[in-house]
Amino acid sequence: MNSRLKPLSKSTDHKPRLIDSFGRQVDYIRLSVTDRCDFRCVYCMTEDMTFLPRKQILSLEELQQVARAFTELGVKKIRLTGGEPMVRSDVMSLIESLGKLPGLQELLLTTNGAQLDNYAPALKAAGVNRINISIDSLDADRFKRISRVGELDSVLAGIDAAIAEGFDRIKLNSVIMRGYNEDEVLALADYAVDRGIDIAFIEEMPLGEASDHAREETTCSNAWVRSVIEEKYELLDSAEKTAGPSRYSQAVGHRSRIGFISPITHNFCEDCNRVRVTVEGRLLLCLGNEHSVDLKAVLRDSNSTHEDLKQIIIAAMDLKPERHYFYDKKHVQPVRLMNTTGG
Ligand code: GTP
Ligand code: 5AD
Ligand code: SF4
Repeated sequence: MNSRLKPLSKSTDHKPRLIDSFGRQVDYIRLSVTDRCDFRCVYCMTEDMTFLPRKQILSLEELQQVARAFTELGVKKIRLTGGEPMVRSDVMSLIESLGKLPGLQELLLTTNGAQLDNYAPALKAAGVNRINISIDSLDADRFKRISRVGELDSVLAGIDAAIAEGFDRIKLNSVIMRGYNEDEVLALADYAVDRGIDIAFIEEMPLGEASDHAREETTCSNAWVRSVIEEKYELLDSAEKTAGPSRYSQAVGHRSRIGFISPITHNFCEDCNRVRVTVEGRLLLCLGNEHSVDLKAVLRDSNSTHEDLKQIIIAAMDLKPERHYFYDKKHVQPVRLMNTTGG
């Protein structure tokens, strides 16, 4: 365990108390349930990935215990991420048990959509409120170039299935990269608007070496993406916050909101309300930094109790860094790939 952690103090009150040293309250966790995926997106993974051995990853029961500890500490929102959450075998049993956690207000899923055609009804029944689905191209060949192996049709069918199921909200995620899909911004926005669902455009983040493209050259600023969309749609900035990094605008006259996640050009760390848990049980305090605490060691220590786990989580908040420093040469950049980080 990290030696900078505070000594444990036994406490019995269960009020929200995940507050970091900058006064930010953490009430949202992104829980990665697998590092595996059936796609190999160029911004996320290498073509030839080695995944973690089973012994190294948390069991479904351990993931459930971690989620329970966080909700007992005031976390209201859990987003399941991966890799691709739906490739973990028996993931539905975990999702069903998370859906019953007292105190949890929102159970969310970020997925590549390829299996939603099968799973959308079960996810809705298990209590999943909102789903975010990645889609970077509407052209089958392009889609394959970006995902390396994915089939566009399976994702389109997954989106339709999710819409039919009536989740509270569906959001598409599109990472726009020069030389890959920058000419599809409007087509992707039209696709979302035609279906009355939301879409967020994401600036690619430099997390690990996933492919040979130079990210500084391919990243498209969201200011540019927005200007393309404004050629067709009037965008009204929305004051509404999802407690996420997206800044949303309403497409005037339509149901859809257009979001911009701009980690490179618009830092949003000051409002950060989240931490991540990797499938190895590493509590990661920031997407863009390496500060972390090993929860797996506590979970697997027969002398540790559930209360110990909670105390370690509370103490870990002191390690949450102020912000990320993507592309700042004065700071060490993360070497983790996105699939091991959990989105
Ligand atoms: P909400 O929880 O509904 O606001 O969704 P979200 O947009 O935060 O989640 P999603 O899983 O769809 O992630 C969309 C993009 O936002 C991905 O590229 C994430 O990596 C990125 N993202 C999410 N949280 C953070 C964060 O804390 N910092 C940074 N830099 N990027 C984040
Ligand atoms: N930069 C920005 N977004 C990324 N995602 C995966 N890797 C990156 C990256 N390097 C996105 C995916 C998915 C979400 C979980 O994270 O597109 O929508
Ligand atoms: Fe899989 Fe999502 Fe990574 Fe693509 S971005 S390889 S779909 S985990």
